[in-house]
Amino acid sequence: MKIKNICCIGAGYVGGPTMAIIAQKNPKINVTVVDINEKRIAAWNDENVENIPIYEPGLSEVVKEARGRNLFFSTDVDAAIDKAEMIFISVNTPTKTYGIGKGMAADLKWIELCARQIARVAKDDKIVIEKSTLPVRTAAALKDILDNTGNGVKYQILSNPEFLAEGTAVEDLQAPDRVLIGGDIDTEEGKAAMQALVNIYAKWVPQESILTTNVWSSELSKLTANAFLAQRVSSINALSELCEHTGADVNEVARAIGMDSRIGPKFLKSSVGFGGSCFQKDILNLVYIAKSFGLNEVADYWEQVIIMNDHQKRRFAENIVKTLYNTVSGKKIAFLGWAFKKDTNDTRESAAIYVADYLLNEQAEVVVYDPKVTEEQIYADLDYLGTRSEEENRKLVTVIKDPYEVCQDSHAIAVLTEWDEFKDYDWKKIYDCMLKPAFVFDGRNLLDTRELTKTGFTVSSIGSPLVRKTKEERKSAQVS
Ligand code: UDX
Ligand code: UDX
Ligand code: ADP
Repeated sequence: MKIKNICCIGAGYVGGPTMAIIAQKNPKINVTVVDINEKRIAAWNDENVENIPIYEPGLSEVVKEARGRNLFFSTDVDAAIDKAEMIFISVNTPTKTYGIGKGMAADLKWIELCARQIARVAKDDKIVIEKSTLPVRTAAALKDILDNTGNGVKYQILSNPEFLAEGTAVEDLQAPDRVLIGGDIDTEEGKAAMQALVNIYAKWVPQESILTTNVWSSELSKLTANAFLAQRVSSINALSELCEHTGADVNEVARAIGMDSRIGPKFLKSSVGFGGSCFQKDILNLVYIAKSFGLNEVADYWEQVIIMNDHQKRRFAENIVKTLYNTVSGKKIAFLGWAFKKDTNDTRESAAIYVADYLLNEQAEVVVYDPKVTEEQIYADLDYLGTRSEEENRKLVTVIKDPYEVCQDSHAIAVLTEWDEFKDYDWKKIYDCMLKPAFVFDGRNLLDTRELTKTGFTVSSIGSPLVRKTKEERKSAQVS
């Protein structure tokens, strides 16, 4: 099957970068990315390629190379569907906020709308590809809608989950660990559709890294990959609390176990808790699916990963209050970082939001600096929680574009994101402008605890015995 035109519905964090790379590597295929959000499409088309709506290292160069040649961004969804032989669905699938499965299941409203739109528009056979992370067996629902409401044309449904991580999207797309393609392996048409997609990736991905499976395995593998990754973070975070009570150092433990090739060194960084648009959503999804089959032990097992993560965020905030003599009322707490991890402006499910909310409930005054996140986004994140009025959020929280000014006259600094630049600050200068005793709560184990302690700070890092040592030292200093 010869593919000349590809359409991708959804120009977000997944659709945008993925299609940019596909277009770059397949210059003879026209790739049109469509979205109902006009502002977003206008930004993708912005003459100044630095203004594209998603910040990813290296992405603007790829867009610059392909845009206008064989990569197009448009709001004309129908036209792009009509022309394409292959349609990727890359729209958002957030956790449901209403009705059955509220807070757990994925909301497939947008996927279904896409399917109905494709069914209405398509006049010839199409390959439809699930790119968004979807619950297992969504392909069946898609097929049902397409086959029953369409114009009698034939559809092949493939699952092709995306494994890119934000901040390294271009790198991950250029050299993926694997590409996964699920389809109907029992029919010739199914195999042909899978081959058509394999050919597109084979332009730059080695054949042995392109896996083909049945649709369900592909769908479940995506949820499982995210669940395993999140589980590693929760596992090391669970140990971090034990380290704080025993005098072990979680960084040393992580290094020691990571050298076991069966465990491996990656994703063992203890933190204030994982965030991002995928981990929590996908695990909740897995839990919901397991429960819907009556597999309660399976559901409980995975749910514990989320429970641990919520606990980690809460205990970080509790530790701030406890350490600051059990009250932060009226105290200025400086936040370094708001994004859910470094090198991205994405704040979805960021631990910073929940830590801020907790401290605001304790009447703290929160002042935030993040190199990439806008003031507008920070307020939107807090407003979305609905804990207090928009006016109160603006009264209690200040966003400042200068890290030194943020720390000025603060009682404590909380590091919420592991931005590299935080390591290079003039920490003596920061110490001098803070109220004493000056506290640092390092939620990312990013800073040099020994150096900071020498400067005069009282440092509390996750999973480190130094926390207690400095407290003891302080006590003995007070006694003498
Ligand atoms: C284990 C540790 O591997 C070793 O480092 C430690 O020093 C002692 O405990 P051992 O108990 O000899 O070693 O066996 P291991 O190969 O780890 O297997 C343990 C159990 O897990 C076995 O019953 C094995 O069948 C099972 N297993 C292991 C699985 O079911 N699936 C796997 O993928 C791996
Ligand atoms: C994740 C998956 O990695 C990716 O494969 C999938 O396609 C989408 O979800 P992403 O959410 O972009 O990607 O970020 P990731 O790098 O996985 O980090 C998720 C969260 O875990 C971040 O908040 C990060 O700070 C945290 N984390 C990660 C840790 O706290 N410790 C670690 O060791 C690793
Ligand atoms: P992801 O991280 O999965 O890429 P995003 O929220 O960044 O999610 O992007 C999803 C995009 O899909 C949004 O820009 C949204 O406007 C778009 N979208 C959602 N539903 C439709 C639809 N029916 N037609 C076209 N675009 C859609």
